[in-house]
Amino acid sequence: MVRPKVTDTSAAKSSHPALERPVLHAFRVRLADWYNRNKRDLPWRHTRDPYSITVSEFMLQQTQVSTVLPYYDRWLDQFPKWKTLASAPTEKVLKAWEGLGYYQRARNLQKLAQAVAASPGGELPASIEGLQQLPGIGPYTARAIGSFAFGLKTGVLDGNVIRILTRVFAIRENVTDRNVLSQLWSLTESLAPDNDSDTYNQSIMELGALVCLPRKPACLLCPIQSVCKGKSEPDQFPVKERAATKAVVERIAVIRDGNRWWCEQSAANRRLSEFWRFPDFDSATMTEESELTRFKYTITNHRIDLTAVHARWKKSPSVKTAGRWLTRHEIESLPFSSAHRKISRQLKGDR
Ligand code: ADE
Repeated sequence: MVRPKVTDTSAAKSSHPALERPVLHAFRVRLADWYNRNKRDLPWRHTRDPYSITVSEFMLQQTQVSTVLPYYDRWLDQFPKWKTLASAPTEKVLKAWEGLGYYQRARNLQKLAQAVAASPGGELPASIEGLQQLPGIGPYTARAIGSFAFGLKTGVLDGNVIRILTRVFAIRENVTDRNVLSQLWSLTESLAPDNDSDTYNQSIMELGALVCLPRKPACLLCPIQSVCKGKSEPDQFPVKERAATKAVVERIAVIRDGNRWWCEQSAANRRLSEFWRFPDFDSATMTEESELTRFKYTITNHRIDLTAVHARWKKSPSVKTAGRWLTRHEIESLPFSSAHRKISRQLKGDR
């Protein structure tokens, strides 16, 4: 990869000889000043409580701040401590997460709560290594919690930070490559100062959210534009060579019996296990009557074209068929994925 240029190492007095002094100054001083004047007032920035910070970090993975805000407060009211979350029924946990998407995060957060609640001190360990050994905590989350809750010296790397670093240092390599990523990790670690990694991490993520945007970045407002090598062509960074998306067609059966609908709980080995869903249409056991709704949605690298049809069983489902007749009220109160929730909104009939 293109490394930052080695110059003036004696003057830099930094922990990383490859970084020039003006670059360190921009990332540590000018960025922090900008952050203190422009940061959004977000609830998780008013706490050092490791549990609350962990909840915010799990919710913020792949999800925008504005989406997370109402969930965060509600979650802490409903599950205020590791112990309350650890002992809650999984269905309640998934229900509280409903609409945030990527439900594995909710399951992982509960597994983490169970591990923490069962540990001798009942709290998170205050080290990156210790944090990373816990379920659901990867390199980014360990460092975010480490710096925000425990004040550890460490730098974070997420999508925002990758975009900023590849632009500032004009790094043209494919950021989905493991070696390139590991070099970006060491770069962010070097940029984080010893005494205030918390501010560096919050401020670089905030710059990515407010200024160094994926499209149309506001370079004129950027506090570190003077050291940015990519500012004349920001849309060239980062370079991502992705796997192609796969097209998937789904046909879902909506089967009604009076005021109840046939629903199944996803098998444990299926994505969204423990979530309820309408069954896949199966012409061997069902007859199709008419189309109810059709829409497209995307999950990771799958582009799904879903059609839900009104259908009937050819013969009544046997007790062996995994599923149950649910009322409208039950459908509303049990966890459903966003796609199947969208189907349920089209149901007509008594509650
Ligand atoms: N995204 C991930 N962590 C965040 C944080 N603490 N504040 C704002 N956005 C974030």
